[in-house]
Amino acid sequence: MHSKTLYIKTFGCQMNERDSEIIEQLLAQDGYLAVDGADKADVVILNTCSIRAKAEQKVFSLLGQLREQKQLRPGMRIGVAGCVAQQEGEKIFSRMPHVDFIVGTQQIYQLPEILQRLDQGATSHELATDLDAAFAIPPFQQLLTHQPPANPEGFRRFVTIMQGCNNYCSYCVVPHTRGREVSRPVADILEEVEILVSQGIKEITLLGQNVNSYGMTNPVAETPTSFARLLRLVAAVPGLKRLRFTTSNPKDLSAELVACFGELDNLCPHFHLPVQSGSNRILRLMNRKYTVEEYLEKVAALRERCPQIALATDMIIGFPGESEADFEATMELLRTVRYHGSFSFKYSDRPHVRSAEFSDKVEESVKSERLARFQGLQDQISLERNQEQLGQEVEVMVESAQSEMWKGRTTTNHIVHFPAAAQPHQPGDCLLVRIDHAGKHSLRGNIVVPEAEIDH
Ligand code: SAH
Ligand code: SF4
Ligand code: F3S
Repeated sequence: MHSKTLYIKTFGCQMNERDSEIIEQLLAQDGYLAVDGADKADVVILNTCSIRAKAEQKVFSLLGQLREQKQLRPGMRIGVAGCVAQQEGEKIFSRMPHVDFIVGTQQIYQLPEILQRLDQGATSHELATDLDAAFAIPPFQQLLTHQPPANPEGFRRFVTIMQGCNNYCSYCVVPHTRGREVSRPVADILEEVEILVSQGIKEITLLGQNVNSYGMTNPVAETPTSFARLLRLVAAVPGLKRLRFTTSNPKDLSAELVACFGELDNLCPHFHLPVQSGSNRILRLMNRKYTVEEYLEKVAALRERCPQIALATDMIIGFPGESEADFEATMELLRTVRYHGSFSFKYSDRPHVRSAEFSDKVEESVKSERLARFQGLQDQISLERNQEQLGQEVEVMVESAQSEMWKGRTTTNHIVHFPAAAQPHQPGDCLLVRIDHAGKHSLRGNIVVPEAEIDH
């Protein structure tokens, strides 16, 4: 039988990356083989992101290009999944009539049936965008038995612990595209982690839009479990080398979670803690529910508990009403915290969000100019932070070990390049590397040769 080919292009966050993996696993059961380009695929799925206006525009321009490919190969099927699919629904069909199917964020598990119906000619267009509070993740045991072949990155995995978000930050489309917050049962999470580790996975990242509120809304466990408690349970899975999580709203960061750092050996000393602005007035307008002072207290508690912790953040530049003084407060926060790295974005209006209705939008040119100033300062701080590592010997988990220069990552999430070891190694192996060069985006070093090896 001629097997069908599938190409998935993923945009946006790790939640979408995880969903794309699941789609690939699900469709592998029906004989779909993943290929690395739309030109070779019978089915092309764009797994889309709607977080900023630009992300959405990208999807529509790519769909425009796919129209030409479909004219040459009319049998090809094109689908849209993810947050733009959820948000725009059937409007995508009218704008892009060559699209065959649209699946929302909670409906990816329908894909096998959707494709079957299209194949049988039962329908020409399929739409599945229901969004309700039900937990959409099916028994993963079923998914795990149909894993796609191990890829070279097969040493780390994401494990979803919750879906949706209830926070309604005033600028954010996620509660509208991912639905209400629901936590996944502890037992399911633990079982998935145990299975993955038994298959040789070394690093797990727990995923949710606001992991700090795990178990607080719709607790699915009989006894509500806090995120810190869940973290302790996952960290205790034998054989798990590194544990990370993303993302956290600072308002829900508990003392119990702070205590996990420095206590759990395999919990990586790296914390992505999006702050969004350094101005209390703007934070209030954003509906973030914390002040700069409260945020700084949490940062101090984390650093006290775990001095080597590397902090990263997200920043929105040019939120409606942001004055030069508000922006200067953001720069001041950056100088105070001295993040190891940050993701900064120009504000853009999104459908259904409250800030879209706010007046005094900041001009595009002002946003660009402020973003450049912010990123200039961050680059300088990142370089100085990286230079702090010069001369240190750090544990690096190998990510690629093919050419003469290998690449790996520290527990603090820094990329390190280093000359190949004498012995072959696999991705997921850990080596001791001495850092001897620091750039603003990565480090370079040399493997520390253990004494025993020098002797012979
Ligand atoms: N759950 C995370 C954020 C996920 S969205 C949290 O609560 O922090 C990823 C990032 O996109 C956000 O942190 C924010 O910095 C940015 N973002 C979200 N909406 C945006 C918008 N309308 N314009 C610009 N950036 C936005
Ligand atoms: Fe969006 Fe706020 Fe939820 Fe993060 S916490 S996903 S920024 S609404
Ligand atoms: Fe984008 Fe949706 Fe993630 S909007 S950031 S793909 S939750």
